[in-house]
Amino acid sequence: MIVAFVGTAGSGKTTLTAAFGRYLKENGHSVAYANLDTGVRKLPYRPDVDVRRDVTAWELMEEGYGPNGAIVESYDRLLPKVSAYLTEILKLEDERDYVLLDTPGQMETFLFHEFGVRLMENLPEPLTVYLFSPDILRKPEDFCFVRFFGLMIELRLGTTTVPAMSKVDTVERLEDYRKYLDDLDYLNSRLRLEPSMQGLLAHRMCSVLPELAPPTRILYVSARTGEGFDDLETLSYEHYCNCGDLT
Ligand code: GTP
Repeated sequence: MIVAFVGTAGSGKTTLTAAFGRYLKENGHSVAYANLDTGVRKLPYRPDVDVRRDVTAWELMEEGYGPNGAIVESYDRLLPKVSAYLTEILKLEDERDYVLLDTPGQMETFLFHEFGVRLMENLPEPLTVYLFSPDILRKPEDFCFVRFFGLMIELRLGTTTVPAMSKVDTVERLEDYRKYLDDLDYLNSRLRLEPSMQGLLAHRMCSVLPELAPPTRILYVSARTGEGFDDLETLSYEHYCNCGDLT
């Protein structure tokens, strides 16, 4: 099973990769880790595949690139090696129960650079977990935004994508978030009351979600407490064996 964690900088990808991998191992599974982030300095897990062996963003900065240019250049340099990385990941997938992919800090690097897209398109049925932290969810439009963003990732990477709220240990009343994320009818009824242009746009966009969104449940996880790991494991398995409908 290949599970890729995708999300904005700081959403918790690296911490979750390490913690979920530990959880799987404790439950008797064999796990491999692939670090696809050229910009990360320290990792809380030992990667079996690591793009930093070929290039790092910080060595490119020493060559004179700015922070964003260094990241883009690093993936330009990795692109000719994408087949070699694919071969390594596929070999790990043969040998282990799970291969966890920790993707670049800045999500757009993975979504917009050919390196990320080619890699994901050529892996066998990977599950993408789209991580977002609760602090970006302040008003009803934000909930619509993350539900749509999950769809956009699915469209771009061509993989089944499950939205997952990270850092749930920081949230006082999870049910306040769940009622918006789990229940599209409730979200839409709230959006209908928003008088702004953004509210109107969000309402119209979210009205089509029941028709467009794949039938999948939302995950709620904490890398700190392990909350939601059982659900993530079950969902990965259901996706892999095609034996559940992910709802
Ligand atoms: P990049 O380094 O930009 O790739 O970010 P990332 O998405 O890999 O996030 P990372 O795992 O580095 O976590 C960002 C920050 O959030 C760190 O300070 C983590 O300790 C913290 N964090 C991650 N997961 C959790 C969580 O489940 N709960 C809490 N409270 N903090 C978390």
